[in-house]
Amino acid sequence: MTTTPASTASASTTPVGTALSRSHRFEHRIRRAFVASATTVGLVLIFVLNPDAALVYATNMFGALRTPGEPAFIAAHRGDRASFPENTLPALGAVLDSDFDFVETDIQLTADGVPVLFHDETVDRTTNGTGLLVDYTLEQLKTLDAGSWYSRDFVYLQVPTLDEFLAIFTSSKKKAMLELKGVWTEEQVRVVTELIYARGVQNRVIFEAFDYATLTSLQNAAPVFPRVLIQRYLPADPVALATRFGVIAILTSYNSVKKQPDAVTQLHEAGLGIVLYTLNKKGKWSDALTLGVDGIITDKPSLLDDWLADNAPGT
Ligand code: G3P
Ligand code: CA
Repeated sequence: MTTTPASTASASTTPVGTALSRSHRFEHRIRRAFVASATTVGLVLIFVLNPDAALVYATNMFGALRTPGEPAFIAAHRGDRASFPENTLPALGAVLDSDFDFVETDIQLTADGVPVLFHDETVDRTTNGTGLLVDYTLEQLKTLDAGSWYSRDFVYLQVPTLDEFLAIFTSSKKKAMLELKGVWTEEQVRVVTELIYARGVQNRVIFEAFDYATLTSLQNAAPVFPRVLIQRYLPADPVALATRFGVIAILTSYNSVKKQPDAVTQLHEAGLGIVLYTLNKKGKWSDALTLGVDGIITDKPSLLDDWLADNAPGT
Protein backbone atom coordinates (compact mmCIF):
# COMPACT_ATOMS: atom_id res chain seq x y z
CA MET A 1 0.00 0.00 0.00
CA THR A 2 1.33 3.40 -0.89
CA THR A 3 0.91 6.18 1.63
CA THR A 4 0.31 9.81 0.89
CA PRO A 5 1.89 12.42 3.11
CA ALA A 6 -0.89 13.70 5.35
CA SER A 7 -0.28 17.35 4.65
CA THR A 8 -0.36 16.85 0.87
CA ALA A 9 -3.54 14.76 0.98
CA SER A 10 -5.50 17.13 3.17
CA ALA A 11 -4.24 20.24 1.43
CA SER A 12 -5.59 19.03 -1.87
CA THR A 13 -8.99 17.86 -0.59
CA THR A 14 -10.65 20.31 1.82
CA PRO A 15 -10.67 24.07 2.39
CA VAL A 16 -10.06 23.38 6.11
CA GLY A 17 -7.04 21.26 5.17
CA THR A 18 -5.76 24.03 2.89
CA ALA A 19 -6.08 26.56 5.70
CA LEU A 20 -4.27 24.22 8.11
CA SER A 21 -1.51 23.62 5.60
CA ARG A 22 -1.07 27.37 5.05
CA SER A 23 -0.92 27.87 8.78
CA HIS A 24 1.73 25.09 9.08
CA ARG A 25 3.83 26.61 6.32
CA PHE A 26 3.54 30.02 7.98
CA GLU A 27 4.59 28.55 11.34
CA HIS A 28 7.48 26.74 9.63
CA ARG A 29 8.63 29.97 7.96
CA ILE A 30 8.43 31.87 11.25
CA ARG A 31 10.41 29.13 12.99
CA ARG A 32 13.06 29.12 10.25
CA ALA A 33 13.29 32.91 10.35
CA PHE A 34 13.65 32.76 14.13
CA VAL A 35 16.42 30.13 13.96
CA ALA A 36 18.22 32.10 11.23
CA SER A 37 18.02 35.35 13.21
CA ALA A 38 19.12 33.65 16.43
CA THR A 39 22.10 32.09 14.61
CA THR A 40 23.06 35.44 13.08
CA VAL A 41 22.75 37.23 16.41
CA GLY A 42 24.79 34.46 18.05
CA LEU A 43 27.57 34.66 15.45
CA VAL A 44 27.63 38.47 15.61
CA LEU A 45 27.88 38.28 19.39
CA ILE A 46 30.71 35.72 19.19
CA PHE A 47 32.70 37.90 16.81
CA VAL A 48 31.96 41.16 18.62
CA LEU A 49 32.82 39.72 22.03
CA ASN A 50 35.80 37.76 20.73
CA PRO A 51 36.96 38.85 17.28
CA ASP A 52 39.55 36.06 17.16
CA ALA A 53 36.93 33.36 17.55
CA ALA A 54 36.76 31.56 14.26
CA LEU A 55 36.86 27.96 13.26
CA VAL A 56 40.23 27.02 11.86
CA TYR A 57 40.26 24.10 9.48
CA ALA A 58 43.16 22.02 8.20
CA THR A 59 42.81 23.74 4.82
CA ASN A 60 43.28 27.17 6.44
CA MET A 61 46.71 26.16 7.70
CA PHE A 62 47.83 23.59 5.12
CA GLY A 63 46.16 24.81 1.93
CA ALA A 64 44.01 22.20 0.17
CA LEU A 65 44.23 18.68 1.55
CA ARG A 66 46.52 16.69 -0.73
CA THR A 67 45.60 13.98 -3.17
CA PRO A 68 48.07 11.14 -3.89
CA GLY A 69 51.09 12.43 -5.82
CA GLU A 70 50.62 16.08 -4.85
CA PRO A 71 53.52 17.82 -3.09
CA ALA A 72 53.30 17.88 0.69
CA PHE A 73 54.24 20.99 2.66
CA ILE A 74 57.63 21.14 4.36
CA ALA A 75 58.06 21.69 8.09
CA ALA A 76 61.64 22.17 9.22
CA HIS A 77 62.12 20.10 12.38
CA ARG A 78 63.61 22.11 15.28
CA GLY A 79 64.51 24.73 12.68
CA ASP A 80 67.07 23.95 10.00
CA ARG A 81 68.92 21.52 12.24
CA ALA A 82 70.91 20.10 9.33
CA SER A 83 72.83 23.38 9.16
CA PHE A 84 72.58 24.89 12.68
CA PRO A 85 72.25 23.74 16.30
CA GLU A 86 68.62 22.68 16.74
CA ASN A 87 66.04 25.03 18.26
CA THR A 88 68.44 27.99 18.33
CA LEU A 89 67.74 31.36 16.76
CA PRO A 90 70.08 30.75 13.78
CA ALA A 91 68.33 27.41 13.06
CA LEU A 92 64.87 28.97 13.31
CA GLY A 93 65.86 32.20 11.55
CA ALA A 94 67.20 30.22 8.58
CA VAL A 95 63.74 28.74 8.06
CA LEU A 96 62.10 32.16 8.25
CA ASP A 97 64.36 33.25 5.36
CA SER A 98 63.66 30.11 3.32
CA ASP A 99 61.00 28.73 0.99
CA PHE A 100 59.82 26.15 3.54
CA ASP A 101 56.23 26.44 4.74
CA PHE A 102 56.53 25.76 8.47
CA VAL A 103 59.11 25.94 11.19
CA GLU A 104 58.65 23.30 13.93
CA THR A 105 59.98 23.85 17.43
CA ASP A 106 59.55 22.60 21.00
CA ILE A 107 58.45 24.64 24.01
CA GLN A 108 59.17 23.93 27.67
CA LEU A 109 59.02 26.07 30.81
CA THR A 110 62.02 27.01 32.91
CA ALA A 111 61.99 26.67 36.72
CA ASP A 112 60.70 30.26 36.90
CA GLY A 113 57.98 29.66 34.31
CA VAL A 114 59.47 31.22 31.17
CA PRO A 115 58.70 29.43 27.88
CA VAL A 116 61.93 28.46 26.10
CA LEU A 117 62.66 26.49 22.94
CA PHE A 118 64.21 23.19 23.92
CA HIS A 119 63.66 19.57 22.97
CA ASP A 120 65.19 17.20 25.55
CA GLU A 121 64.21 16.82 29.20
CA THR A 122 67.84 17.33 30.20
CA VAL A 123 70.29 19.96 29.00
CA ASP A 124 73.12 17.41 28.64
CA ARG A 125 73.01 16.66 24.90
CA THR A 126 72.65 20.16 23.46
CA THR A 127 74.43 22.39 26.00
CA ASN A 128 77.54 22.30 28.18
CA GLY A 129 75.36 21.92 31.29
CA THR A 130 73.91 18.90 33.05
CA GLY A 131 70.57 18.05 34.65
CA LEU A 132 66.91 18.65 34.01
CA LEU A 133 65.88 21.72 32.04
CA VAL A 134 62.98 22.29 34.43
CA ASP A 135 65.47 22.82 37.29
CA TYR A 136 67.07 25.80 35.55
CA THR A 137 65.81 29.36 35.93
CA LEU A 138 65.99 31.44 32.77
CA GLU A 139 69.01 33.30 34.13
CA GLN A 140 70.84 30.04 34.80
CA LEU A 141 69.86 28.58 31.42
CA LYS A 142 71.16 31.64 29.61
CA THR A 143 74.68 30.99 30.99
CA LEU A 144 74.84 27.66 29.11
CA ASP A 145 76.51 27.21 25.74
CA ALA A 146 73.93 25.71 23.36
CA GLY A 147 76.10 25.84 20.24
CA SER A 148 79.50 24.22 20.83
CA TRP A 149 78.14 20.68 20.94
CA TYR A 150 77.23 21.20 17.27
CA SER A 151 80.22 23.22 16.06
CA ARG A 152 82.82 25.65 17.38
CA ASP A 153 81.30 28.17 14.94
CA PHE A 154 78.34 28.50 17.33
CA VAL A 155 80.16 28.77 20.62
CA TYR A 156 78.08 30.40 23.39
CA LEU A 157 74.88 30.46 21.43
CA GLN A 158 72.08 30.62 24.00
CA VAL A 159 68.87 28.66 24.47
CA PRO A 160 66.23 31.07 23.10
CA THR A 161 63.07 32.09 24.86
CA LEU A 162 59.81 31.69 22.96
CA ASP A 163 59.49 35.47 22.92
CA GLU A 164 62.92 35.89 21.31
CA PHE A 165 61.77 33.55 18.56
CA LEU A 166 58.42 35.35 18.18
CA ALA A 167 60.29 38.64 17.79
CA ILE A 168 61.98 37.37 14.60
CA PHE A 169 58.93 35.36 13.51
CA THR A 170 56.77 38.51 13.48
CA SER A 171 58.43 39.99 10.42
CA SER A 172 58.30 36.76 8.40
CA LYS A 173 55.37 35.24 6.55
CA LYS A 174 56.02 31.67 7.73
CA LYS A 175 53.84 29.49 9.89
CA ALA A 176 55.01 27.78 13.06
CA MET A 177 54.23 24.41 14.62
CA LEU A 178 54.77 24.90 18.31
CA GLU A 179 55.01 21.63 20.20
CA LEU A 180 54.19 21.84 23.90
CA LYS A 181 56.48 19.21 25.43
CA GLY A 182 55.18 17.23 28.38
CA VAL A 183 52.10 18.09 30.41
CA TRP A 184 50.71 21.65 30.43
CA THR A 185 47.99 23.20 32.56
CA GLU A 186 45.55 25.79 31.22
CA GLU A 187 47.35 28.50 33.15
CA GLN A 188 50.68 27.52 31.60
CA VAL A 189 49.11 27.48 28.12
CA ARG A 190 47.91 31.06 28.71
CA VAL A 191 51.49 32.20 29.39
CA VAL A 192 52.32 31.09 25.84
CA THR A 193 49.20 32.45 24.13
CA GLU A 194 49.67 35.85 25.77
CA LEU A 195 53.13 36.10 24.23
CA ILE A 196 51.72 35.08 20.85
CA TYR A 197 48.92 37.67 21.04
CA ALA A 198 51.37 40.35 22.16
CA ARG A 199 53.39 39.74 18.98
CA GLY A 200 50.22 39.61 16.83
CA VAL A 201 51.10 36.29 15.18
CA GLN A 202 48.12 34.26 16.38
CA ASN A 203 46.99 33.47 12.82
CA ARG A 204 50.25 31.77 11.91
CA VAL A 205 50.74 29.25 14.67
CA ILE A 206 49.56 25.70 15.29
CA PHE A 207 50.00 23.95 18.60
CA GLU A 208 51.06 20.31 18.74
CA ALA A 209 51.16 17.88 21.64
CA PHE A 210 51.50 14.17 22.38
CA ASP A 211 49.89 14.48 25.78
CA TYR A 212 46.08 14.25 26.05
CA ALA A 213 45.90 16.44 29.16
CA THR A 214 47.87 19.14 27.33
CA LEU A 215 45.49 18.96 24.37
CA THR A 216 42.59 19.39 26.77
CA SER A 217 44.30 22.41 28.35
CA LEU A 218 44.73 23.86 24.85
CA GLN A 219 41.08 23.18 24.04
CA ASN A 220 39.95 24.99 27.17
CA ALA A 221 42.48 27.82 27.42
CA ALA A 222 43.11 28.52 23.73
CA PRO A 223 40.19 27.10 21.73
CA VAL A 224 40.69 29.43 18.76
CA PHE A 225 44.22 28.17 18.08
CA PRO A 226 44.47 25.19 15.73
CA ARG A 227 45.82 22.04 17.38
CA VAL A 228 47.49 18.91 16.08
CA LEU A 229 47.65 15.62 17.94
CA ILE A 230 50.93 13.73 17.72
CA GLN A 231 50.50 9.93 17.75
CA ARG A 232 53.46 7.75 16.91
CA TYR A 233 51.02 4.89 16.33
CA LEU A 234 47.69 5.62 14.67
CA PRO A 235 44.62 4.47 16.57
CA ALA A 236 42.10 2.18 14.85
CA ASP A 237 39.76 5.13 14.36
CA PRO A 238 41.92 8.24 13.83
CA VAL A 239 38.92 10.45 12.99
CA ALA A 240 37.24 9.64 16.32
CA LEU A 241 40.40 10.50 18.25
CA ALA A 242 40.96 13.71 16.28
CA THR A 243 37.34 14.72 16.86
CA ARG A 244 37.64 14.04 20.60
CA PHE A 245 40.36 16.67 20.90
CA GLY A 246 39.05 18.99 18.17
CA VAL A 247 42.35 18.88 16.31
CA ILE A 248 42.80 19.87 12.67
CA ALA A 249 45.21 17.03 11.92
CA ILE A 250 47.11 14.03 13.21
CA LEU A 251 50.88 13.96 13.11
CA THR A 252 52.14 10.40 12.93
CA SER A 253 55.04 8.18 11.95
CA TYR A 254 55.89 6.77 8.54
CA ASN A 255 55.61 3.17 9.77
CA SER A 256 52.20 3.76 11.27
CA VAL A 257 50.69 5.19 8.09
CA LYS A 258 52.33 2.50 5.95
CA LYS A 259 50.51 -0.09 8.09
CA GLN A 260 47.25 1.83 7.95
CA PRO A 261 47.17 3.74 4.65
CA ASP A 262 43.37 4.06 4.73
CA ALA A 263 43.80 6.53 7.58
CA VAL A 264 44.79 9.18 5.01
CA THR A 265 41.48 8.94 3.17
CA GLN A 266 39.49 8.64 6.40
CA LEU A 267 41.01 11.82 7.83
CA HIS A 268 40.71 13.71 4.54
CA GLU A 269 37.07 12.75 4.12
CA ALA A 270 36.46 14.22 7.57
CA GLY A 271 38.21 17.44 6.52
CA LEU A 272 41.24 16.65 8.68
CA GLY A 273 44.91 16.64 7.78
CA ILE A 274 47.68 14.08 8.20
CA VAL A 275 51.34 14.97 8.59
CA LEU A 276 54.35 12.64 8.97
CA TYR A 277 57.43 12.99 11.20
CA THR A 278 60.41 12.86 10.90
CA LEU A 279 61.22 11.85 7.30
CA ASN A 280 64.76 12.40 5.99
CA LYS A 281 65.12 9.91 3.13
CA LYS A 282 64.04 10.14 -0.51
CA GLY A 283 62.33 6.74 -0.47
CA LYS A 284 60.12 7.83 2.44
CA TRP A 285 59.36 11.23 0.86
CA SER A 286 58.31 9.39 -2.28
CA ASP A 287 56.04 7.02 -0.32
CA ALA A 288 54.57 9.94 1.62
CA LEU A 289 53.53 11.66 -1.62
CA THR A 290 52.08 8.42 -3.00
CA LEU A 291 50.02 8.08 0.19
CA GLY A 292 48.73 11.65 -0.21
CA VAL A 293 49.82 13.03 3.17
CA ASP A 294 49.58 16.80 3.60
CA GLY A 295 52.91 17.60 5.17
CA ILE A 296 56.34 16.21 5.98
CA ILE A 297 58.40 17.19 8.99
CA THR A 298 62.07 16.79 8.18
CA ASP A 299 65.55 17.47 9.50
CA LYS A 300 66.66 18.11 5.92
CA PRO A 301 64.30 20.81 4.63
CA SER A 302 66.63 22.05 1.87
CA LEU A 303 67.10 18.55 0.45
CA LEU A 304 63.37 17.87 0.60
CA ASP A 305 62.67 21.19 -1.11
CA ASP A 306 65.06 20.29 -3.95
CA TRP A 307 63.66 16.77 -4.16
CA LEU A 308 60.09 18.06 -4.39
CA ALA A 309 61.09 20.49 -7.14
CA ASP A 310 62.50 17.57 -9.16
CA ASN A 311 59.87 14.98 -8.32
CA ALA A 312 56.51 16.58 -7.60
CA PRO A 313 54.65 18.59 -10.19
CA GLY A 314 53.37 21.97 -9.03
CA THR A 315 56.18 22.87 -6.61
O1 G3P B 1 56.59 17.62 15.39
C1 G3P B 1 56.61 16.33 15.85
C2 G3P B 1 57.93 15.87 16.30
O2 G3P B 1 58.79 16.94 16.47
C3 G3P B 1 57.79 15.10 17.55
O3 G3P B 1 58.97 14.50 17.92
O4 G3P B 1 60.69 14.22 19.62
O5 G3P B 1 61.20 15.45 17.54
O6 G3P B 1 59.76 16.49 19.24
P1 G3P B 1 60.21 15.21 18.61
CA1 CA C 1 58.98 18.47 18.24
